[in-house]
Amino acid sequence: MGHYMLISAATAAMAATRTAARIAQTRTILAAARAYSARPASAKDITDRPKVTTQTIKKLYTDGKPIAMMTAYDYPTAVACERAGVDMVLVGDSLAMVALGHENTSEVTMDDMIHHSKAVSRGMRSAFLVTDLPFGSYQSDETSAVNNAIRMIKEGRAEALKLEVGHRGAPKVDAIVNGAGIPVVGHIGLTPQSAVALGGFRVQGKSVRNAQALVDDALALQDAGCLAIVLEAMPSLVAETITKLLRIPTIGIGAGSSTSGQVLVLSDMVGVFDRFTPKFCQNYADLGPRMAAAIGEYNKSVRAGTFPIEGVHTYAMPATAEENWRAYVQKQFGLELGSRKSPLDNASSNGSASEAKQIASVSVKSTSA
Ligand code: KIV
Repeated sequence: MGHYMLISAATAAMAATRTAARIAQTRTILAAARAYSARPASAKDITDRPKVTTQTIKKLYTDGKPIAMMTAYDYPTAVACERAGVDMVLVGDSLAMVALGHENTSEVTMDDMIHHSKAVSRGMRSAFLVTDLPFGSYQSDETSAVNNAIRMIKEGRAEALKLEVGHRGAPKVDAIVNGAGIPVVGHIGLTPQSAVALGGFRVQGKSVRNAQALVDDALALQDAGCLAIVLEAMPSLVAETITKLLRIPTIGIGAGSSTSGQVLVLSDMVGVFDRFTPKFCQNYADLGPRMAAAIGEYNKSVRAGTFPIEGVHTYAMPATAEENWRAYVQKQFGLELGSRKSPLDNASSNGSASEAKQIASVSVKSTSA
């Protein structure tokens, strides 16, 4: 019997130590979370990598080093791209579908693209920022193409622009690059802005004739002065041919492994776009269900009254002010205010394991949600 009592005392002591550790950990996490939200990350917190420029991109290409490009649509996704160290960030007009909920990319406007490009630029430190010119902003004539290009640079804070054009659009690329001095990335193959004309979101260049047309487009864009060309949804063999024929980098998406670099749509590769995932996309994370689960936890805890927790997520008055306020409210309004006692204090002083556990888990969940 005495033996069992000794064991249970030791177990209780260990449980109390664990509980204290979890409470301390919870407090540290909460303190960090508060500091973070009150003081946004500075440039150095995000990355200390040197700035990626057009020269860096050319050097990566000539050194035969693969170029990594990722899409971003807002400040947090830009910061994630910086932390990951990608070379180029693209504010793609995929924004229309994956972030704004449109059926296709044709509805997104210059104002939408500028708004999001600006947001992304606030999170950018080192990576090279490319923004899409949206459908309707460059198709009609050279003057409006150049004017909208200038606007995207000035207002959207982009460093280069991407245009979904082939050889017919080459004069516009020439006007933007050589007339206005703005770097341009071309985009050929499956060009979502002309998906209706292409008969849907279809792989391009599957016949010899169509593959030759893509080669012609790529060469015309290179001659017009493109910095690089995105090759989307085409047979690997066609992308390899184009890459071998060009003296500028190709960035592939659904174009195989022979291109000079790769790009993916962020929302597809982290699993937050619910409508479809293209065959060429690798799912690197499944954040959509995790986000829904976290929101579900929050929803449950609000309904159950377990969030917020006094002393954890709340602000207190100094003791004397609290006393005075209680007395004032009682006198002025006849109200009796509730106790603001923190269950966290109880838990740490009484060593109530289950209570502390609940606090810790709710606190951590609500911090990470
Ligand atoms: O809009 C976009 O995200 C793109 C990528 C598919 C390259 O153009």
